[in-house]
Amino acid sequence: MKKSLWMVGLVFVLALVFSMNLFAQTEKAQYIGAAKCKMCHTAKAKGEAHPIWSKSKHASAYATLGTEEAKAVGKKAGIDDPQKSSKCLKCHVTAYDAPATAKAATYKMEDGVTCETCHGPGSLYQSMKVMKALAAGTQDHAAVSYNPGDLKSCVKCHNQESPTYKPFKAEQDWKQIAHPTPKG
Ligand code: HEC
Ligand code: HEC
Ligand code: HEC
Ligand code: HEC
Repeated sequence: MKKSLWMVGLVFVLALVFSMNLFAQTEKAQYIGAAKCKMCHTAKAKGEAHPIWSKSKHASAYATLGTEEAKAVGKKAGIDDPQKSSKCLKCHVTAYDAPATAKAATYKMEDGVTCETCHGPGSLYQSMKVMKALAAGTQDHAAVSYNPGDLKSCVKCHNQESPTYKPFKAEQDWKQIAHPTPKG
């Protein structure tokens, strides 16, 4: 009798610990993929960030690694398949190095360098409520893993470690991919 009560207690405590753990996990921001930002960031009046991004080379950065040109570049570095090598993926794919637990089911390597490279993993800030609070300046950025974007972090990838490096000037090159929200 006493023994089975102990068992019930133990199962209860384990269940509690387990559920708390799961809860903690859901509070960590995850990468959700660019398609999740599309529905709210497509209209011209809203700045069409998604169409601008999808036409940019960032959106095809993973596909680029599958080209003959990429294979030739890889060969020089002793890499057979650039689409499978961390040495190339680390700059051609968002959050390549992040653990699997930080990636939602909708995350895809095929998306290349996405919004979330520059704005942070989106799971906690993607809701209309949080997005509006961010725009209004009433939401703490770190609490939802949000990054407003800056031109200083471009050189994490646009640097001479890139085997095809082209001189990069953040202010100037930004103009090719700028996506401001129209005022008014
Ligand atoms: C449910 C709709 C919705 C989704 C989904 C959404 N956003 Fe937003 N986002 C908004 C709204 C609304 C604003 C406020 C700007 C405005 O009023 O036009 C905004 C503003 C922003 C801003 C500017 C915030 C500021 O400080 O002014 C950024 C950056 C942004 N979104 C990025 C993203 C990214 C990246 C994703 C996908 C991970 C995403 N959004 C998904 C609705 C959304
Ligand atoms: C995670 C790495 C990464 C970051 C961060 C990054 N880029 Fe890129 N960017 C790339 C890669 C990779 C390509 C090449 C993609 C291809 O050609 O398929 C690229 C291409 C570009 C291009 C097109 C260049 C061309 O030859 O046509 C521009 C413009 C650009 N990036 C601007 C920026 C700016 C501005 C920032 C910062 C706000 C930035 N990038 C941040 C990885 C990155
Ligand atoms: C290469 C980095 C990069 C990528 C990729 C990127 N952004 Fe941005 N984004 C920025 C930077 C930097 C700013 C801030 C520009 C400024 O302050 O002038 C910004 C600003 C914004 C703004 C606010 C514009 C304003 O006028 O206030 C929105 C909304 C936005 N981004 C949405 C997105 C969405 C949605 C995607 C993907 C579809 C995306 N961004 C992809 C770097 C990026
Ligand atoms: C340090 C970040 C970084 C690494 C590592 C990296 N790339 Fe890139 N890659 C970039 C950037 C940024 C661009 C766009 C501009 C440039 O070439 O500097 C680019 C562009 C390219 C292009 C297109 C060049 C063109 O002419 O448009 C190819 C092909 C490419 N990379 C292949 C590779 C391969 C293969 C690897 C692995 C051996 C690799 N990259 C590793 C950052 C990187």
